[in-house]
Amino acid sequence: MSQYHRCVVAVLIIILLTRLYYRTTLFKKGGTFSTTNLLNTFPSPQPVKKILFWYEQYKPPRRRNGFEIAQGPTGMAEDAYRLTHCQLQCDIFSRGRIVNWELLKEYDAIIFHQHDWTPDDVPVKRWPHQHYVFLSMESPAWRFVNTESMKNFFNRTMTYRRDSDIYNPYGWFSALTESVTLDSSRINPLTLKQLMRDVHFDTTNYGAGKTKKVAWFVSNCKSLSARNEYVDRLKTFIDVDIYGQCGTMRCSRSNSELCHEMLERDYKFYLSLENTLCEDYVTEKFFDQMRYHIIPIVFDLHGHHKRIAPPHSYINAADYKSIRELADYLLLLDGNDTLYNEYFWWKKHYIVGGGPRDAKGGMCRLCDYLHNSTLPLKVYQNMTQWWDVQSKCRTVAFINNTIMPKHDADFYWESFLA
Ligand SMILES: *[C@@H]1O[C@H](CO)[C@@H](O)[C@H](O)[C@H]1NC(C)=O
Ligand SMILES: *[C@@H]1O[C@H](CO)[C@@H](O)[C@H](O)[C@H]1NC(C)=O
Ligand SMILES: *[C@@H]1O[C@H](CO)[C@@H](O)[C@H](O)[C@H]1NC(C)=O
Ligand SMILES: *[C@@H]1O[C@H](CO)[C@@H](O)[C@H](O)[C@H]1NC(C)=O
Ligand SMILES: *[C@@H]1O[C@H](CO)[C@@H](O)[C@H](O)[C@H]1NC(C)=O
Repeated sequence: MSQYHRCVVAVLIIILLTRLYYRTTLFKKGGTFSTTNLLNTFPSPQPVKKILFWYEQYKPPRRRNGFEIAQGPTGMAEDAYRLTHCQLQCDIFSRGRIVNWELLKEYDAIIFHQHDWTPDDVPVKRWPHQHYVFLSMESPAWRFVNTESMKNFFNRTMTYRRDSDIYNPYGWFSALTESVTLDSSRINPLTLKQLMRDVHFDTTNYGAGKTKKVAWFVSNCKSLSARNEYVDRLKTFIDVDIYGQCGTMRCSRSNSELCHEMLERDYKFYLSLENTLCEDYVTEKFFDQMRYHIIPIVFDLHGHHKRIAPPHSYINAADYKSIRELADYLLLLDGNDTLYNEYFWWKKHYIVGGGPRDAKGGMCRLCDYLHNSTLPLKVYQNMTQWWDVQSKCRTVAFINNTIMPKHDADFYWESFLA
């Protein structure tokens, strides 16, 4: 080889190595780095998938932190962001002024937030490769839209429900140790007992210094789940401090961190009551508390907490025959730190995941999903069936301080009329 050829080869090798280094660090930046990703992706890099928000402006949680500005097809979209914290690459766009409908073809997915849905404002043209995504973080109990007008429109669903194509929960738990799983029936009962007992030998007393009993933050004084009526009755048996517009206590929302710290310091229990009772509908009202040392009280008629949260980490009010029985149990825990502390056994064995920048979060799941080349074509023929009926929303009634669940397809009318 001549001097010239050697030089060319050396330059080529340098270029190749630089590219390789660049790619590897990019992957590392994405959070989960594994050699399989690299091997699968490197020989034939996947193109960046494009996601378009049709109604709302997509707002990344914090600019330039996990997100970079991306380039959209000209004249089509504004505010484009590249998701850089996911395993695979996707750009997210908000709809701008549409000058040329043919450019819409470039998007792999178009997201329609159910809250803003109207059949009068949808793309005039669609392409068979495109995924029309139904997005909702709220439960269907608040009827924003007429789902009958959605027939044969959506290809995919992205909601808090586990049976969505793209599961988009408010949070989740991950096991840190081998001995635990989220499904308590799969943890050896003796192991679980032992793990719970271990907390007795801890030096931490989670109940120490707490002088108050139950707290609740609420801004909406009417709800379909009848939670306000429930708390009114609970108050007659145990002290409940109600913060916000429906109560007498105040804590400035401008610093929610300080409010959380105050709750953790002073209170034993927190009412994590959702505004509607629908399967899998568990919001930040629950996950936020699980990051602190306070026991959340939930009202779960569907058994979903059992599937997503560690056993003995929260109290399900629906397990008690009456409100008085629940209050008696809370008073028992309040008077016995050993029993109280047992509810925190899991802190060493699980972590709480979630939040918009978590690489396992909804947008990254959608991105992974779009990169899957073997997805079958699909369309939701009847969204009334999938969303309104299969969400299994329920209402409750009170009879003599006992809560009676009702299965009721017309739940929302009844509650509004009541
Ligand atoms: C607290 O409960 C534990 C477990 O039931 C019991 O062994 C202990 O005696 C109780 N402590 C008090 C002070 O009642
Ligand atoms: C891609 O989708 C198919 C069909 O839904 C599924 O079986 C497969 O596991 C997916 N592949 C990946 C890598 O997620
Ligand atoms: C989405 O649904 C439309 C309308 O039925 C269909 O033409 C298209 O092929 C579907 N796309 C995917 C990716 O499933
Ligand atoms: C869609 O499902 C709902 C609820 O099951 C049903 O009442 C309705 O008739 C269905 N619509 C069509 C067009 O099949
Ligand atoms: C409610 O309590 C009253 C008085 O104890 C009793 O007469 C009535 O039968 C109870 N109603 C129901 C539905 O249990």
